[in-house]
Amino acid sequence: MSRSEDLLSEQLLYYRNGAAQYDAANRSLLTANDADGRSRREGRAHAAEALAVARDRSVLEIAGGTGVYTEMLAQIAGDLTVVDASPESLDINRQTTAGAPVAVRYIESDIFGWTPTERYEVVVFAFWLSHVPEDAFERFWYLVDRCLTHDGTVVIIDAGEPAHAHLQNNVNFFSEDRVDESTSVRYLQDGAAYRIVRVLWNRELLADELARLGWTAEFAAAEWLIGHVRRTA
Ligand SMILES: C[S@@+](CC[C@H](N)C(=O)[O-])C[C@H]1O[C@@H](n2cnc3c(N)ncnc32)[C@H](O)[C@@H]1O
Repeated sequence: MSRSEDLLSEQLLYYRNGAAQYDAANRSLLTANDADGRSRREGRAHAAEALAVARDRSVLEIAGGTGVYTEMLAQIAGDLTVVDASPESLDINRQTTAGAPVAVRYIESDIFGWTPTERYEVVVFAFWLSHVPEDAFERFWYLVDRCLTHDGTVVIIDAGEPAHAHLQNNVNFFSEDRVDESTSVRYLQDGAAYRIVRVLWNRELLADELARLGWTAEFAAAEWLIGHVRRTA
């Protein structure tokens, strides 16, 4: 196994073992009456604005997890498919979207081994791009290209640059130690440690990398990294 594959397996294990913890931490942070709570609510409001492009569209959510954003999409999308490699997260996601106007189709798969069979008008990933290793970036965007209709839109929601990241990743939310610029160690409540990929993109740098691959990115004026990406005309 290469270093990247090894890291991706460990990252997935973190999300599998920590699915309930991740969901509970996200939800309690949303109601927290402190700077982290306010930052989270503000980020989520900006995310909701960006997700409005999904209204009445066919939508694919990559790494939908426990449904923190699936629940928003299930209120507005025309149809909605969620792919994630963690069955534990997808179980929580199903509970989150039960009774929503759109019946969500779930696919349990490792995104790096997944072959899409359809194209979607909108492809969304929230808090996922930062978990894609730099050496898999191009391969990942090739997959996005294969999932998207000709004039489709990609919505990226993710943590902002390191200057703001302390508000999004403090110890009350995710206990995390930085290893290097693209790797962190995260801890679950039982003390178990997992290495994860953590690439906090600078938006200009990300726009340049995407331009090189034939994409045009527009980012919202927000603390989080929130943007729409389309194929360059
Ligand atoms: C930070 S969570 C984001 C979840 C959700 N989008 C959100 O914003 O709350 C990352 C998600 O990626 C999923 N994941 C990790 N490795 C994956 C892989 N190789 N293929 C597909 N999903 C993966 C995890 O199961 C987890 O649900």
